Amino acid sequence: MDHFQYRDGILHVEDIPLPRIAEEVGTPVYVYSRATLERHAQTFRDGLKDVPKKHLAFAIKCNPNLGVLRVLARQGYGADVVSGGELERALAAGMAAEDIVFSGVGKTRAELALGLDRGIGQFNIEHEPEGIALAEIAVQKEMTARAVLRVNPDVDAGTHAKISTGKADNKFGVGIDVAPEIFGRLAGLPGLQLRGVALHIGSQLTSLAPLEAAFERVGRLVADLRAAGHSITHVDLGGGLGVRYREGDNPPTPAEYGAMVARVTKDWDVTLMFEPGRVIAGNTGVLLTEVLWVKPGATNPFVVVDAAMNDLTRPALYDAHHDFDAVKRSGDTMTASIVGPVCETGDTFARDREIDTVAPGDLAVFRTAGAYGATMASTYNSRSLVPEVLVDGDRYAIVADRIAAKTIMAAERVPDWLD
Ligand code: LLP
Repeated sequence: MDHFQYRDGILHVEDIPLPRIAEEVGTPVYVYSRATLERHAQTFRDGLKDVPKKHLAFAIKCNPNLGVLRVLARQGYGADVVSGGELERALAAGMAAEDIVFSGVGKTRAELALGLDRGIGQFNIEHEPEGIALAEIAVQKEMTARAVLRVNPDVDAGTHAKISTGKADNKFGVGIDVAPEIFGRLAGLPGLQLRGVALHIGSQLTSLAPLEAAFERVGRLVADLRAAGHSITHVDLGGGLGVRYREGDNPPTPAEYGAMVARVTKDWDVTLMFEPGRVIAGNTGVLLTEVLWVKPGATNPFVVVDAAMNDLTRPALYDAHHDFDAVKRSGDTMTASIVGPVCETGDTFARDREIDTVAPGDLAVFRTAGAYGATMASTYNSRSLVPEVLVDGDRYAIVADRIAAKTIMAAERVPDWLD
């Protein structure tokens, strides 16, 4: 059951007609559906029904809104965080410290210390010096840091180059060939309880094959580490499962993913950890926008909307596709390019695409904007920071305010010596 439905020709999110949100909150605005979030959280968990010991950590980088995180906390999800800021958010949203995993290739010493002080469940160590630093800080604090070593399995995830993380020449993890020696050196350090390994090969994966190849390599590594006398109790399989952005996309379902995981890992006897992001949040949100102008172009017209690349950066950054649908559908279509107001040609959401016919003043949505949408927004061109709304049945709440350019400007200074 989809919670983004046309009723009487008007797009609703759950029971709320989108024109109401446009009128009361303004546009552009991200709108999320609580019921959809909950359903995705449950579907992902159900997919892993044959994995006996598991831990689910939502990759909060994809949607760190406190309201969204609270929904997932109530679904029993912990968090995968990559900065001190995300760590504080996860706690503020009600996630338990022991359910938090700290990933990221550039954790500072201050962030490692913060993680220890807050009592987080696990550090995913990216390389040997970071592990040494973590051990030193833990010893100073008379604490023990639970950790796993992130390995780079050198597989091609078959996704966009900018979001691929598991090839040998990517910056993430330690090479799987050198992992045993590094593991051996780190495992002996006081202050560190090195209990397993982690991997994450990329995002928006639309095939299970690279994941399976990577998991098999990690399975062999686990066996080698055990043969060398190490106790391996945890393996973090990361995130990466893709979602459907447009008709014809056919990413593996959570059930297919879960069945593959259960099969490949059946003899591992570890707690498996997962860091899903997009598969939980992607299809739970839309970016609601108003058409400002329809401007003639050399071939097709430009539909100029009030959302821009600063609000939804994925098309500009990764040539990503987001479906564009009119909130009130006439049934007619037009071929147009959809662009935002920012002064860059890159501020283009779609080129020469067949879309619902729209006119100035009409509302429309970009679909599948619940992951890596608002979180990647900026105020480029001194635009406001885009607000977020969470719908729950027939009620909604503004879960992030629109931050006006004026408010951002208020944090800037012109020093006296410029006068
Ligand atoms: N775990 C780690 C260590 C990660 O680096 C990521 C994503 C995830 C989990 C979650 O991956 P997911 O399940 O969401 O695929 N901004 C890009 C995506 C960047 C992904 C970065 N890492 C986009 O808009 O496509």
